[in-house]
Amino acid sequence: MENSVRDIVLQYFAPENINSVVVAGNRAIVTLQNVPEDKEKAAKLSDEILKLDGIGKANVIFTAAKDAPSLQQEPNMWQVNGVKKIYAVASGKGGVGKSTTAVNLALALASLGKKVALFDADIYGPSIPTMLGYENEPAVSLDGQTFEPFRASGITSMSIGSLIDRDTPVIWRGPKACGAIEQLLTEVNWGDTDIMILDMPPGTGDIQISISQRLKLDGAIIVSTPQDIALIDAVKGVNMFRKVNVPILGIVENMSYYICPKCGNRDEIFGHAGAAETADRLGVRFLGEIPLHYSIRTHSDDGRPIVAAEPESPYAKAYIEIARKLV
Ligand SMILES: Nc1ncnc2c1ncn2[C@@H]1O[C@H](COP(=O)(O)OP(=O)(O)OP(=O)(O)O)[C@@H](O)[C@H]1O
Ligand SMILES: [Mg+2]
Repeated sequence: MENSVRDIVLQYFAPENINSVVVAGNRAIVTLQNVPEDKEKAAKLSDEILKLDGIGKANVIFTAAKDAPSLQQEPNMWQVNGVKKIYAVASGKGGVGKSTTAVNLALALASLGKKVALFDADIYGPSIPTMLGYENEPAVSLDGQTFEPFRASGITSMSIGSLIDRDTPVIWRGPKACGAIEQLLTEVNWGDTDIMILDMPPGTGDIQISISQRLKLDGAIIVSTPQDIALIDAVKGVNMFRKVNVPILGIVENMSYYICPKCGNRDEIFGHAGAAETADRLGVRFLGEIPLHYSIRTHSDDGRPIVAAEPESPYAKAYIEIARKLV
């Protein structure tokens, strides 16, 4: 059947533009690459494919990527047992403080009495094991089939970093990365959990989109720094979640300002209030600002994030304030 579909596709597109042709049940999925989107041509093509006996649905997808995600079958939703709500912490741009925000928000929510789990889905650079101090500990399985979550600083957590050797760079292709994330997410004994925080990989590519589609996300928190360039990416992040119908809980501005530990002087190195303005423009909630501060970084590096290490500090309180808005 796939060959018959492919023959039809070849009447419309060159072989090098065909990424894949998949038939699952009565659905044909054709993925094209490196070719400008042409809706009219796609409609004609799918009409042709639908003439084949046994084909009831046809999708023609244009993609820039060589590896298109989730084309094998109808998307199966991932089941995360025991977890009531899942919030993703995401950013369009890397290095803006997503993981720092995710881990401290998770701890802040726990300090408000919630049962919280944290899942590190960052296949490019999982950092939660370091931030929670179990970098060198292997994940434990009691039955040889499921994993026990790590328990540290009052929350449960698991990281994609526990599946891979972090000294060996891995080039994840879409489907493989999603498979690994799904496996780990669904095979952990999370137990009774009110809120799961998901530390997403940076960016708005295929992998991020697949995660947002396969997992029933209850909301997304976008982290940005005040710089224009980061904000442009934050807008991309907001738009990505909107496209897949995930509600945006709001934007957090990280590294908003710097307070000199010696003189107490406040310095707005990256400008200020950019994220609040962007949130306003996009019609999403501005959740708050986190200063750039030495102890926020050092406590994360030491495996005990600031909300656990110095809960009374103004920096921890900034996270707790945001957590209050979320609950
Ligand atoms: N408010 C802050 N004050 C001081 N340091 C910070 C703050 N937020 C983040 N950092 C530091 O900045 C670096 C990047 O932060 P983090 O790893 O959280 O970013 P990220 O967005 O998760 O990055 P990636 O895209 O690589 O996953 C880390 O060294 C972290 O400790
Ligand atoms: Mg990170």
